[in-house]
Amino acid sequence: MPLVAGVVVLLSSLFLGIPMVVSAEQQTPFQPSSPRQSNHHSHNHNLSIPSIGLGLWNSKGDDAAHAVTYAFDAGYKHLDSAAAYGNEEYVGRSLSPSSKHSHSPPPPRHKYWVTSKLWNDAHRPSLVAAALDKTLSDLSIAYLDLYLMHWPVAFLPDQAPGRTVVDQDTTILDTWRAMEDLVRANKTRYVGVSNFSPRQLDQVLKHCDICPYAHEFETHPYLQQQDFVDWHADNNITVIAYSPLANMNPTYKDKYPKLDPLLEDDFWKGLASKKNCTVAQAVLAWGIQRGTVVIPKSVHEERIIENLGSLNVTFSKDEMREIQTQDKRSRFNNPSKGWGVELFEGLDDGSNRFLATKYDLR
Ligand SMILES: NC(=O)c1ccc[n+]([C@@H]2O[C@H](COP(=O)([O-])OP(=O)(O)OC[C@H]3O[C@@H](n4cnc5c(N)ncnc54)[C@H](OP(=O)(O)O)[C@@H]3O)[C@@H](O)[C@H]2O)c1
Ligand SMILES: *[C@@H]1O[C@H](CO)[C@@H](O)[C@H](O)[C@H]1NC(C)=O
Ligand SMILES: *[C@@H]1O[C@H](CO)[C@@H](O)[C@H](O)[C@H]1NC(C)=O
Ligand SMILES: *[C@@H]1O[C@H](CO)[C@@H](O)[C@H](O)[C@H]1NC(C)=O
Ligand SMILES: *[C@@H]1O[C@H](CO)[C@@H](O)[C@H](O)[C@H]1NC(C)=O
Ligand SMILES: *[C@@H]1O[C@H](CO)[C@@H](O)[C@H](O)[C@H]1NC(C)=O
Repeated sequence: MPLVAGVVVLLSSLFLGIPMVVSAEQQTPFQPSSPRQSNHHSHNHNLSIPSIGLGLWNSKGDDAAHAVTYAFDAGYKHLDSAAAYGNEEYVGRSLSPSSKHSHSPPPPRHKYWVTSKLWNDAHRPSLVAAALDKTLSDLSIAYLDLYLMHWPVAFLPDQAPGRTVVDQDTTILDTWRAMEDLVRANKTRYVGVSNFSPRQLDQVLKHCDICPYAHEFETHPYLQQQDFVDWHADNNITVIAYSPLANMNPTYKDKYPKLDPLLEDDFWKGLASKKNCTVAQAVLAWGIQRGTVVIPKSVHEERIIENLGSLNVTFSKDEMREIQTQDKRSRFNNPSKGWGVELFEGLDDGSNRFLATKYDLR
């Protein structure tokens, strides 16, 4: 028994990147120093995050606006946006009740959830509020439900297009403090992070006054990260699973060319046929059943409707266990080299994880 407990502490210490010092703090390593402050806001609004949302990366121009309208018509109540997607003005055309572009009016604002993200070039505290103001103005809404720090990396502002220079003088905590002020200003109900390593998240949790509501990161059947997902649940941080359909995003197609597109994977095709649903529905249903929020992107009305049908699919415990054996530990989205920074430290297929991925050998 003591041996088992010791191993668990050791493993979780390694995994979470926490020094292995026996102390009171170690028992609750990620407990914030002050009690989690609930967010006060003036909005007549009590929606918690819906378990499925519409992703908006790579949805261009009018396609993005139409996708939002299809999603509302189908019954979606959650959009995953970002300044960096370059389409918030188009998304806003479908959120503005008075828009002449949109065919059907949007639901009342308090009935749907909007997440957006602060881009890396606006991490300086003096730039954070203006970045959110721009997003709100583009989206034609008065407040966000959730504002995420898109990456744990600050870029110098005002660089030539396409040029990225890391800003060594702005820390994650500097930016986080400025994001907390946005909650105080009632411009967003919650704040959170995206693409953080355990060590980076620990840093925020140790010092936050208003603590992260959610962490959005890549996770799907080919990169399950079950221990990391479980850790968030234990700490009341919602996991938003991005790229929930794994390598279906065409920008990922060259990363592990030997890996089947997830929707053509024989295991998943078999499971979907057993459950009498489509492969996308099976994959998304697994994401929801394991407690993550899934945000599949599509610009096609029939797929947007299909993906919502994942809410009707449930798996047995045995099926959930079988799915766990299908992990490939393969990460598709990692700009670490291009940016010259370490990312995903300690996580599967991130830096300092000496576990070769199944498809990365040779
Ligand atoms: N925080 C971050 O750093 C970050 C990073 C990546 C993604 N995200 C968020 O997560 C969202 C989802 O991730 P993602 O866009 O990378 O990938 P995804 O949602 O896993 O997959 C999207 C791809 O799958 C296709 N697709 C969707 N539903 C389908 C279906 N039922 N059948 C067949 N194909 C289907 C889409 O095509 P069509 O559009 O042509 O239908 C698109 O090419 C993003 O849009 C973004 O909002 C966040
Ligand atoms: C935010 O909303 C709260 C609750 O309604 C209110 O007390 C506070 O004055 C508002 N703050 C700002 C800056 O508007
Ligand atoms: C949340 O809002 C709905 C609709 O306004 C209301 O019916 C419900 O009682 C509210 N719940 C809480 C916990 O305030
Ligand atoms: C998570 O929430 C539960 C129930 O509200 C609470 O008992 C627990 O202390 C919370 N844990 C953390 C780490 O905040
Ligand atoms: C399978 O799903 C289809 C379409 O959703 C439905 O028409 C059919 O009745 C289902 N069959 C079974 C055996 O549940
Ligand atoms: C779930 O299944 C029911 C019964 O077949 C159907 O009426 C409903 O539209 C489905 N829900 C979704 C979101 O597809």
